[in-house]
Amino acid sequence: MGIMTIDGRRVEFTDEKNVLSIIRKAGIDIPTLCYHSELSTFGACRLCTVEDDRGRMFASCSEEPRDGMVIYTNSGRIKKYRKLIVELLLAAHCRDCTTCVKSGNCNLQELAHRFGITRVRFDNTREERELDMSSPSIVRDPNKCILCGNCVRACDELQGINVLGFAFRGTDAMVMPAFNKKIAETNCVGCGQCRVFCPTGAISIHMNVDEVWDALADPNVRVIAQVAPAVRVAVGDAFGLTKGKSVMGKIVNVLHRMGFDEVYDTTFSADLTVMEESAEFLKRIESGERLPIMTSCCPAWVKFVCDQYPEYKTNLSTARSPEGMLSAVAKEWFRDPEKSGGKRTVMVSFMPCTAKKIEINRPNSYTKGEKDTDYVITTTELISMIKTTGIDFASLDAEASDVPFGLGSGGGVLFGVTGGVTEAVLRRLVPNDKAALEMVANCGVRGDEPIKEFTIPYNGMDVNICVVSGLANAHTVLAKVRSGEANYHLIEVMACRRGCIMGGGQPRRAGDRTKAARTRGLYNADQAAMIKRPNDNPMIQSLYDGFLKGKEHELLHNDGY
Ligand code: FES
Repeated sequence: MGIMTIDGRRVEFTDEKNVLSIIRKAGIDIPTLCYHSELSTFGACRLCTVEDDRGRMFASCSEEPRDGMVIYTNSGRIKKYRKLIVELLLAAHCRDCTTCVKSGNCNLQELAHRFGITRVRFDNTREERELDMSSPSIVRDPNKCILCGNCVRACDELQGINVLGFAFRGTDAMVMPAFNKKIAETNCVGCGQCRVFCPTGAISIHMNVDEVWDALADPNVRVIAQVAPAVRVAVGDAFGLTKGKSVMGKIVNVLHRMGFDEVYDTTFSADLTVMEESAEFLKRIESGERLPIMTSCCPAWVKFVCDQYPEYKTNLSTARSPEGMLSAVAKEWFRDPEKSGGKRTVMVSFMPCTAKKIEINRPNSYTKGEKDTDYVITTTELISMIKTTGIDFASLDAEASDVPFGLGSGGGVLFGVTGGVTEAVLRRLVPNDKAALEMVANCGVRGDEPIKEFTIPYNGMDVNICVVSGLANAHTVLAKVRSGEANYHLIEVMACRRGCIMGGGQPRRAGDRTKAARTRGLYNADQAAMIKRPNDNPMIQSLYDGFLKGKEHELLHNDGY
């Protein structure tokens, strides 16, 4: 333990990795733009600069704590210095803040307010640069980039994709893909983690809100919504409700008010996914072929395998993602002229994920020549849609999702968190009693660790399972599989750390408390669910016994990747 003096007060510290963490522990919110606890320290923006008792100024994010340090965080010199940094950043930044998609949620804008900057003294001499709209997932606007490098490090360190990097020097410096390629021409998986870490509007979600409003206004169109598990635990706090608490009933209500004809629950098709994937898993275990089976619900992971590990494409489960299944099934349901009432069906999926915007364009996301999902709307876009309506979301009553695709099991809800798919699949393989479900919950499948390995007994054999979140960790696991060091039967991968609750389309700036609250929210929703195992869902059973008969492969599987 050590002690330092911060603004005249003694503060104890133990294993904090930098001075910045100790200052924050002391209750002082030092501004930062390039520091993030999940990324390596870059030290580029210098906003976290403080001063010591010898007048030395240094970036607190890059300074190791030492016993006896005396720090001043708000001296006159420091305040002037920070204000000048923000002014200089604004000077080289496009000025269309009023119409920027990140307005109100931009760290740079917030700092300008905080430091009382009401006009920029310097002209912006940078040439206007072209926007990159090529990706269905994200939009890159170099005019708003402040060169903090957060996107570069997120893409490299968290995801191991390395699409973005720095080019040129000095005032010409820019962040871009190699050879200034368009994002769509790279190996970008569309996970949107660069957007989550970007403090300004330089990387944002490729929005599809206007197209959805147009569909809702068209009397000849039946507009159907489906809502993914992770969305329901990330909307409430934007409207002053408890962080992480499921607000699914309110979401159903507000979507009905917006004009959606039906609102379905993606947990229903998560149950379908479990049925199909667990059957496929058992078949492969029996035959010993194409093992380990790899989950296929995360589109960023699927693209990662296709781009970088094509030899494992056939290991991916052929089951479509829950999102893909529900859209295919619902569109098929309304192909019946009696049900459609002569209207064209438009499917809108509310997802925590930007990569889903790529998934819906894959050739295997079409049925009978028609696109299964027309639009993917992220949680962030949903929040903006609700705000557009002016509806008092917080005071809405809960409404039930529509039948016949509105009821999911607790296992289906767990798809939103890392390990959830595996837990739901394992529930399908054990008896429906409390002890068996507890055994599954405690087998090692839960928890935040980026790589979880465990073994469970099944039918006299040991089944080896690996659960991964964060694509950089998937590189590590696949290297072990390739070398023969690991012998798994099942690998679950979610591209985003902690799973879909931290997807690239979720509201930004989620700290540790928010992350934990979202996870807890999903486990609480599972606890509250009447049905725990997907195979006990009566709606699933009746679908298999009736409407789905003979169409299982066409609607629930891919023929390849
Ligand atoms: Fe420390 Fe940017 S936050 S230099």
